[in-house]
Amino acid sequence: MAESEDPATNTPYTREAAWQLVCEYTESPSLRKHALSVEACVRAYGEREADRLGILGEDRAAFLEKYAITGVLHDFDYERFPSLDDHPFAGNKILAELGWPEEIRTAILSHASYSGVPRNSHLEKALFACDELAGFLTACALVKPTKSIHDVEVAGVRKKMKDRAFAKGVHREDIVNGAADLGVDLDGHIAFCLEAMQKNAGELGLTGTKATETGP
Ligand SMILES: [Fe+2]
Ligand SMILES: [Fe+2]
Repeated sequence: MAESEDPATNTPYTREAAWQLVCEYTESPSLRKHALSVEACVRAYGEREADRLGILGEDRAAFLEKYAITGVLHDFDYERFPSLDDHPFAGNKILAELGWPEEIRTAILSHASYSGVPRNSHLEKALFACDELAGFLTACALVKPTKSIHDVEVAGVRKKMKDRAFAKGVHREDIVNGAADLGVDLDGHIAFCLEAMQKNAGELGLTGTKATETGP
């Protein structure tokens, strides 16, 4: 067994290996944080799904790792291959050559609507539903005076979704359609992803300016 293998799954295709690949291909701090924020949201949906299906023990750990890997890896090729012709196809080729599981690669392909790969599985639907929303929630946090994800609320997010000048690059219809396709109500989806990101605020760099203040 190689040193990097996961004792739970006996494969080298671990979340840590996925993160190393993201860092190898991605210099941009904001793109790395996007990977981590989508991971947090998709993994949280993995937990909900594991609960629903009653998946326990090692099977649960492997199930959650699959969700985490898919979330963290989905844009790993974007910095080097940003064109619609290349992303996520170039990444898929690289992942296939490295032996990453097909289920994860197919889910990653499916997050790009133009790939022609349909979103059938819960994992695929969760990735698509979380991708644009995670970016939008980050944008909502960064315009708060505190820059804290803890100060973002669902009602404010809904208001900002109507403000076309705000975070123009985020496709609102993908957020709305993604939630509908996942079978979750939009407000519930926003609240769920907010909570997932709040739990991981430290690594996402979204704890806010207040948290770093030490003076009286
Ligand atoms: Fe992407
Ligand atoms: Fe993305």
